[in-house]
Amino acid sequence: MSLWIILVFCLLYVFFKWLTGKKLRLPPGPLGLPFIGNVHQIGSCPFVSHSKMADKYGDIHSVSLFGHPVVVLSSLTAVEHFRAASPDNFTHRPVWLTWLDKLLPGLIFKGTTEYQVPRRFMLTNLKRQGMGKLGLESQILEEAEMLMAHLEEVGVFDPNKTLANYTSNNIMRMVAGQRWHYGDPACKEFIDAFNTILDNLNVLILEDLVPMFRYLPDLRKARKETATAMVHTRSFLRKIVEKRMIENNSEENEDFIHSYLHADEEMGEDEVAKLIDLCMTAFVAGTETTSATLSFAFVHLLNDPAWQEELFQEVSTVLQGGKPSMGDLKNLPKLEATIQETLRVNPNNPLTFKATSNVTKVRDYVVPANCLVLVNVYHINYDPVIFPNPSTFNPSRWLRPDGSFNRDLVSATVTFGTGRRICPGQPLARMEMVLLLASLIQRYVLTMPKGCKVPSGQLSGETIVVRPDEYSLVLQKRREH
Ligand code: HEM
Repeated sequence: MSLWIILVFCLLYVFFKWLTGKKLRLPPGPLGLPFIGNVHQIGSCPFVSHSKMADKYGDIHSVSLFGHPVVVLSSLTAVEHFRAASPDNFTHRPVWLTWLDKLLPGLIFKGTTEYQVPRRFMLTNLKRQGMGKLGLESQILEEAEMLMAHLEEVGVFDPNKTLANYTSNNIMRMVAGQRWHYGDPACKEFIDAFNTILDNLNVLILEDLVPMFRYLPDLRKARKETATAMVHTRSFLRKIVEKRMIENNSEENEDFIHSYLHADEEMGEDEVAKLIDLCMTAFVAGTETTSATLSFAFVHLLNDPAWQEELFQEVSTVLQGGKPSMGDLKNLPKLEATIQETLRVNPNNPLTFKATSNVTKVRDYVVPANCLVLVNVYHINYDPVIFPNPSTFNPSRWLRPDGSFNRDLVSATVTFGTGRRICPGQPLARMEMVLLLASLIQRYVLTMPKGCKVPSGQLSGETIVVRPDEYSLVLQKRREH
């Protein structure tokens, strides 16, 4: 009897596969196991595993995660073909991975029908605050000065933590017109809460993939930790918003909160929650990303003291002891090359999340609607034809024979994403990186305390946001200054 039941199940399974396979023709990929699919082949460093699969199966491959098909794009041509197949593909997100939007609400994981209003708000307000213009420069330089004064005081520090204070302050000033003092424990708690949310996302996504996993102890723990972190961050922002509502939104402030309260005179609870979501978006998208990139840049400079010295020569010759400005960048090709090479080698979202909005015919394949599509930024940025010895940090590859910065190469990298959902904060991130790096290099030699091992600048680990391992840095004041 039991043999009959197994046989019927097998026939039903084969019939179901035949039925779905008739309509879909997924890109090639490795054979998976029943139930888990290709999970065991993806392992703990998904962008590297997907890169190896791309070498074997081509620039569009697919895998199965617990029965959910996932398509991975590993070249600019594949990205272009996918976008051309249906432009909405690159405006959509995997909305069925509900934890993403629950924990990073507001915009980043909103689907194609919901992203436009919050994105417009974000872009308009970033620009209104002076993003990409001279207006914001003095504010960021002021923040860089305060950071350096703090670093001189503390002596040895872990850049991963301290730089997040700098980027959080830049965002906090734009969002709410206020800042934290360096070393303020409230700032550390706020940043730690965001990091808890980001770190637990990888685990919580498992619940969307297989709902019964929600009972696993690790997931319970992650849910509890993130709930506490969410309450902490949201109530912190809520207090600021409610205070501003009571103060009747003084005209002196021109920040995000002012703009939102102004646009919506009568604020109900829904509107307050949406405003908090948007503040969360700015923090989650704009702090750890920029500070992790800066931290990787420091690691590369520690590993290459000769390049650090060349950079100092360039910066000190051009600035002559004056304050840096974005206008100086055209005369600072080595500085720009250092930042661009760090962005290439260490994209902090090595796999960006997209989704198909409709059934998509691309090349010979047919991909279902709402299918998770990953752009393998790591594989694209490490293309050995364009960037020989791609895992080596070599900023000189961005310099033309005449020493100028080769801007044409920038479009061969996709660290800030692709298509209409490309990172709207890119000019702000570049400003924060250029102004801080130039200020630091001009005044200090970046070194490590005696006996400490210089960390590796290689990418490893998680998918959501990548940062270097913990390390200690010392700023040694230059005599020239
Ligand atoms: C080095 C720093 C940064 C990197 C590498 C980075 C990278 C990215 C990437 C890869 C995406 C996804 C793009 C896509 O789907 O194709 C993104 C989205 C986003 N970024 Fe950034 N980002 C950085 C800094 C910032 C900053 C400073 C802000 C300012 C608030 C910001 C705001 C956003 C927002 C709001 C989104 C979501 C856009 C949408 O979904 O429509 N980012 N970023």
